[in-house]
Amino acid sequence: MPEREEPVRLAIFISGRGSNMKTLVEACLDGDVVAKPVLVLSNSYSAAGLEWASEQGLPIAAIDHRAYDDRESFEKDVQQTLELHNVEFIALAGFMRVLTSWFTEQWEGRMINIHPSLLPKYPGLHTHKRAIEAGDAEAGCSVHWVTEGVDEGAVIDQERVAIQEGDTPDTLAERVLEREHILYPRALAKAIEDFLDREAEDEAEA
Ligand code: GAR
Repeated sequence: MPEREEPVRLAIFISGRGSNMKTLVEACLDGDVVAKPVLVLSNSYSAAGLEWASEQGLPIAAIDHRAYDDRESFEKDVQQTLELHNVEFIALAGFMRVLTSWFTEQWEGRMINIHPSLLPKYPGLHTHKRAIEAGDAEAGCSVHWVTEGVDEGAVIDQERVAIQEGDTPDTLAERVLEREHILYPRALAKAIEDFLDREAEDEAEA
Protein backbone atom coordinates (compact mmCIF):
# COMPACT_ATOMS: atom_id res chain seq x y z
CA MET A 1 0.00 0.00 0.00
CA PRO A 2 1.44 3.39 -0.96
CA GLU A 3 2.35 5.87 1.76
CA ARG A 4 -0.06 8.76 2.28
CA GLU A 5 -0.05 11.25 5.08
CA GLU A 6 -3.81 11.52 5.59
CA PRO A 7 -6.54 8.86 5.37
CA VAL A 8 -8.93 9.09 2.44
CA ARG A 9 -11.78 11.49 3.19
CA LEU A 10 -14.93 9.39 2.99
CA ALA A 11 -18.59 10.39 2.63
CA ILE A 12 -21.26 7.78 3.30
CA PHE A 13 -24.68 8.26 1.68
CA ILE A 14 -27.78 6.78 3.35
CA SER A 15 -31.55 6.99 2.99
CA GLY A 16 -32.79 5.19 6.10
CA ARG A 17 -31.64 2.94 8.92
CA GLY A 18 -27.95 3.18 8.11
CA SER A 19 -26.79 -0.16 9.53
CA ASN A 20 -24.19 -0.55 6.75
CA MET A 21 -23.00 3.01 7.36
CA LYS A 22 -22.37 2.09 11.02
CA THR A 23 -20.19 -0.87 10.06
CA LEU A 24 -18.18 1.35 7.70
CA VAL A 25 -17.68 4.07 10.31
CA GLU A 26 -16.61 1.46 12.87
CA ALA A 27 -14.18 -0.17 10.40
CA CYS A 28 -12.58 3.24 9.74
CA LEU A 29 -12.28 3.98 13.46
CA ASP A 30 -10.79 0.52 14.12
CA GLY A 31 -8.16 1.22 11.47
CA ASP A 32 -9.36 -1.63 9.20
CA VAL A 33 -9.88 0.88 6.38
CA VAL A 34 -7.45 3.70 5.56
CA ALA A 35 -10.27 6.23 5.41
CA LYS A 36 -11.80 8.83 7.65
CA PRO A 37 -15.58 9.39 7.61
CA VAL A 38 -15.94 13.14 7.12
CA LEU A 39 -19.63 13.27 6.15
CA VAL A 40 -22.81 11.20 6.39
CA LEU A 41 -25.28 12.51 3.85
CA SER A 42 -28.92 11.59 3.41
CA ASN A 43 -31.61 12.53 0.90
CA SER A 44 -34.13 12.36 3.75
CA TYR A 45 -34.22 14.36 7.00
CA SER A 46 -35.87 11.44 8.77
CA ALA A 47 -33.17 8.84 7.99
CA ALA A 48 -32.60 7.11 11.35
CA GLY A 49 -28.90 6.67 10.61
CA LEU A 50 -28.34 10.44 10.73
CA GLU A 51 -29.04 10.51 14.44
CA TRP A 52 -26.50 7.78 15.16
CA ALA A 53 -23.88 9.51 13.00
CA SER A 54 -24.46 12.81 14.74
CA GLU A 55 -24.15 11.11 18.16
CA GLN A 56 -20.72 9.87 17.03
CA GLY A 57 -19.75 13.48 16.36
CA LEU A 58 -19.70 13.00 12.58
CA PRO A 59 -20.72 15.86 10.30
CA ILE A 60 -24.12 15.12 8.77
CA ALA A 61 -26.09 16.66 5.91
CA ALA A 62 -29.70 16.10 4.88
CA ILE A 63 -30.63 17.27 1.39
CA ASP A 64 -34.24 16.42 0.61
CA HIS A 65 -34.48 15.48 -3.07
CA ARG A 66 -38.19 16.34 -3.07
CA ALA A 67 -37.32 20.03 -2.81
CA TYR A 68 -35.78 19.96 -6.31
CA ASP A 69 -37.37 20.02 -9.76
CA ASP A 70 -34.92 17.54 -11.26
CA ARG A 71 -32.20 15.10 -10.28
CA GLU A 72 -29.33 17.25 -11.47
CA SER A 73 -30.19 20.29 -9.38
CA PHE A 74 -30.40 18.02 -6.32
CA GLU A 75 -27.02 16.53 -7.22
CA LYS A 76 -25.46 20.00 -7.68
CA ASP A 77 -26.25 20.78 -4.05
CA VAL A 78 -24.94 17.37 -3.01
CA GLN A 79 -21.74 18.06 -4.95
CA GLN A 80 -21.33 21.45 -3.30
CA THR A 81 -21.66 19.83 0.13
CA LEU A 82 -19.07 17.22 -0.79
CA GLU A 83 -16.66 19.95 -1.89
CA LEU A 84 -17.24 21.83 1.34
CA HIS A 85 -16.05 18.75 3.25
CA ASN A 86 -13.21 17.97 0.82
CA VAL A 87 -14.62 14.50 0.18
CA GLU A 88 -12.42 12.17 -1.88
CA PHE A 89 -14.42 8.94 -1.90
CA ILE A 90 -18.11 8.00 -1.58
CA ALA A 91 -19.70 4.82 -0.20
CA LEU A 92 -23.41 4.49 -0.98
CA ALA A 93 -24.97 2.51 1.88
CA GLY A 94 -28.69 2.06 1.33
CA PHE A 95 -28.89 5.30 -0.64
CA MET A 96 -32.12 4.92 -2.60
CA ARG A 97 -31.76 7.67 -5.24
CA VAL A 98 -30.66 6.90 -8.76
CA LEU A 99 -27.74 9.17 -9.68
CA THR A 100 -27.39 10.79 -13.10
CA SER A 101 -24.35 10.46 -15.35
CA TRP A 102 -23.52 14.09 -14.47
CA PHE A 103 -22.76 12.89 -10.95
CA THR A 104 -21.47 9.36 -11.59
CA GLU A 105 -18.93 10.53 -14.19
CA GLN A 106 -17.34 12.95 -11.74
CA TRP A 107 -16.99 10.20 -9.14
CA GLU A 108 -16.08 7.28 -11.35
CA GLY A 109 -13.41 5.18 -9.62
CA ARG A 110 -14.16 6.98 -6.36
CA MET A 111 -17.70 5.77 -5.55
CA ILE A 112 -18.95 2.32 -4.52
CA ASN A 113 -22.35 0.85 -3.63
CA ILE A 114 -23.74 -2.15 -1.78
CA HIS A 115 -26.57 -4.03 -3.45
CA PRO A 116 -28.57 -6.89 -1.91
CA SER A 117 -28.17 -9.47 -4.69
CA LEU A 118 -25.50 -11.50 -6.40
CA LEU A 119 -24.95 -9.06 -9.27
CA PRO A 120 -25.31 -9.22 -12.23
CA LYS A 121 -28.48 -10.98 -11.04
CA TYR A 122 -31.33 -8.72 -9.94
CA PRO A 123 -30.23 -5.12 -10.28
CA GLY A 124 -32.88 -2.66 -9.03
CA LEU A 125 -35.53 -3.31 -6.40
CA HIS A 126 -37.18 -6.33 -4.69
CA THR A 127 -34.09 -8.49 -5.07
CA HIS A 128 -34.97 -11.07 -2.41
CA LYS A 129 -38.51 -11.58 -3.68
CA ARG A 130 -37.17 -12.05 -7.19
CA ALA A 131 -34.53 -14.59 -6.06
CA ILE A 132 -37.12 -16.62 -4.10
CA GLU A 133 -39.66 -16.55 -6.94
CA ALA A 134 -37.01 -17.67 -9.43
CA GLY A 135 -36.33 -20.72 -7.24
CA ASP A 136 -32.68 -19.75 -6.75
CA ALA A 137 -30.63 -21.86 -4.34
CA GLU A 138 -28.70 -18.87 -3.10
CA ALA A 139 -28.91 -15.11 -2.70
CA GLY A 140 -26.39 -12.64 -1.39
CA CYS A 141 -24.96 -9.17 -1.64
CA SER A 142 -22.43 -7.36 -3.81
CA VAL A 143 -20.29 -4.27 -3.52
CA HIS A 144 -19.55 -2.67 -6.87
CA TRP A 145 -18.07 0.45 -8.44
CA VAL A 146 -20.77 2.94 -9.37
CA THR A 147 -21.13 3.75 -13.05
CA GLU A 148 -23.94 5.36 -15.05
CA GLY A 149 -25.98 2.15 -15.40
CA VAL A 150 -27.85 1.30 -12.20
CA ASP A 151 -26.08 -1.57 -10.35
CA GLU A 152 -23.97 -2.27 -13.44
CA GLY A 153 -20.42 -1.34 -12.40
CA ALA A 154 -17.67 -3.90 -11.84
CA VAL A 155 -18.19 -6.06 -8.76
CA ILE A 156 -15.51 -5.69 -6.06
CA ASP A 157 -16.63 -8.49 -3.76
CA GLN A 158 -19.67 -10.60 -2.81
CA GLU A 159 -21.07 -12.72 0.02
CA ARG A 160 -23.44 -15.64 -0.60
CA VAL A 161 -26.37 -16.88 1.51
CA ALA A 162 -28.32 -20.14 1.01
CA ILE A 163 -32.04 -19.68 0.41
CA GLN A 164 -33.91 -21.94 2.83
CA GLU A 165 -37.26 -23.65 2.43
CA GLY A 166 -40.00 -21.30 3.66
CA ASP A 167 -37.85 -18.16 3.33
CA THR A 168 -39.81 -14.95 2.78
CA PRO A 169 -38.25 -11.78 1.36
CA ASP A 170 -38.01 -10.50 4.95
CA THR A 171 -36.30 -13.56 6.48
CA LEU A 172 -33.89 -13.70 3.57
CA ALA A 173 -33.20 -9.95 3.78
CA GLU A 174 -32.33 -10.35 7.44
CA ARG A 175 -29.72 -13.05 6.76
CA VAL A 176 -28.32 -11.19 3.77
CA LEU A 177 -27.99 -8.02 5.86
CA GLU A 178 -25.78 -9.90 8.34
CA ARG A 179 -23.48 -10.77 5.42
CA GLU A 180 -23.61 -7.17 4.15
CA HIS A 181 -22.10 -6.04 7.43
CA ILE A 182 -19.16 -8.40 6.89
CA LEU A 183 -18.84 -7.68 3.19
CA TYR A 184 -18.97 -3.89 3.08
CA PRO A 185 -16.00 -3.03 5.35
CA ARG A 186 -13.89 -5.66 3.55
CA ALA A 187 -14.88 -4.36 0.10
CA LEU A 188 -14.38 -0.72 1.14
CA ALA A 189 -10.85 -1.57 2.30
CA LYS A 190 -10.16 -3.18 -1.10
CA ALA A 191 -11.65 -0.26 -3.04
CA ILE A 192 -9.69 2.32 -1.03
CA GLU A 193 -6.51 0.34 -1.63
CA ASP A 194 -7.23 0.34 -5.35
CA PHE A 195 -7.93 4.10 -5.27
CA LEU A 196 -4.64 4.75 -3.44
CA ASP A 197 -2.72 2.58 -5.90
CA ARG A 198 -4.14 4.58 -8.81
CA GLU A 199 -3.35 7.85 -7.03
CA ALA A 200 0.26 6.75 -6.44
CA GLU A 201 0.58 5.72 -10.11
CA ASP A 202 -0.75 9.09 -11.28
CA GLU A 203 1.70 10.88 -8.98
CA ALA A 204 4.60 8.77 -10.25
CA GLU A 205 3.66 9.66 -13.84
CA ALA A 206 3.30 13.39 -13.14
C1 GAR B 1 -29.32 -2.74 2.49
O1 GAR B 1 -29.87 -4.03 2.46
C2 GAR B 1 -28.70 -2.39 1.16
O2 GAR B 1 -28.09 -3.47 0.51
C3 GAR B 1 -29.90 -1.94 0.39
O3 GAR B 1 -30.66 -1.19 1.31
C4 GAR B 1 -30.43 -1.70 2.62
C5 GAR B 1 -30.01 -0.55 3.50
O4 GAR B 1 -29.91 -0.96 4.85
N1 GAR B 1 -29.52 -1.14 -0.76
C6 GAR B 1 -30.19 -1.13 -1.88
O5 GAR B 1 -31.21 -1.76 -2.07
C7 GAR B 1 -29.59 -0.25 -2.95
N2 GAR B 1 -30.24 -0.44 -4.19
P1 GAR B 1 -29.12 -0.06 5.89
O6 GAR B 1 -29.71 1.36 5.76
O7 GAR B 1 -29.44 -0.67 7.21
O8 GAR B 1 -27.68 -0.09 5.54
